[in-house]
Amino acid sequence: MGKDVIIACDFPGKEQTLSFLDLFKEEKPFVKIGMELFYAEGPEIVREIKKRGHQIFLDLKLHDIPNTVKRAMAVLSSLDADIVNLHAGGTIPMMEAALEGLTRPDGTRPLLIAVTMLTSTDRETMERDLLIKAPIEETVMHYAMNAKKAGLDGVVCSPLEAGKVHEICGKDFLTVTPGVRFADGDKGDQKRVMTPAQAKLIGSDYIVVGRPITAAENPVEAYKRCVREFKDQS
Ligand code: C5P
Repeated sequence: MGKDVIIACDFPGKEQTLSFLDLFKEEKPFVKIGMELFYAEGPEIVREIKKRGHQIFLDLKLHDIPNTVKRAMAVLSSLDADIVNLHAGGTIPMMEAALEGLTRPDGTRPLLIAVTMLTSTDRETMERDLLIKAPIEETVMHYAMNAKKAGLDGVVCSPLEAGKVHEICGKDFLTVTPGVRFADGDKGDQKRVMTPAQAKLIGSDYIVVGRPITAAENPVEAYKRCVREFKDQS
């Protein structure tokens, strides 16, 4: 595992998603299924995409009491997703319970990664709404360390944080990074972005790319370009 481009399939339903995936004749890209698609279509969409030969990152960001998360993770594990996630804010006992729930009787399990602090939360909101006074970076690194202590495989983070996460949690601790844009592309609503090549240099293990591929005139070419920049250039 490691070093791959994951396409964020942020489509409202099955039809749009499958016709997008039909564009890919030779490649079987790793895809991210988020809340919108999962809640619209249910677990069947995971089975369907899996049956077509794609690896899946199921981005449902679980956060609840440990027992509930453990049981929900057991269900997601049976769907055969390759990566699933949760909020590190659920604390270490919740993350440990999640791992337990995820582990199948034969000892195998999907990779489990944690969302640290959402990038939509800034310092002011953290202080005002969450009463967290520490700087964001310190909080993100602390949450990443908690995820590591709980036995998780990595975190979702900004490509700008990936290097530091590896420094603190080790190079084998996975960094999965959205916020990727081509050098000549539109940033959209992403504020702090990096190109695939820069994300690679800084040590991202997986990049999550949505609109630069899904909204491209030629999505297959855009995907191939992304893979080239992220995987081939050293
Ligand atoms: O279209 P775009 O490349 O911006 O899509 C990025 C994907 O990564 C979206 O599915 C978005 O929800 C997700 N994401 C993000 N920033 C985060 C966490 C997740 O952009 N901090």
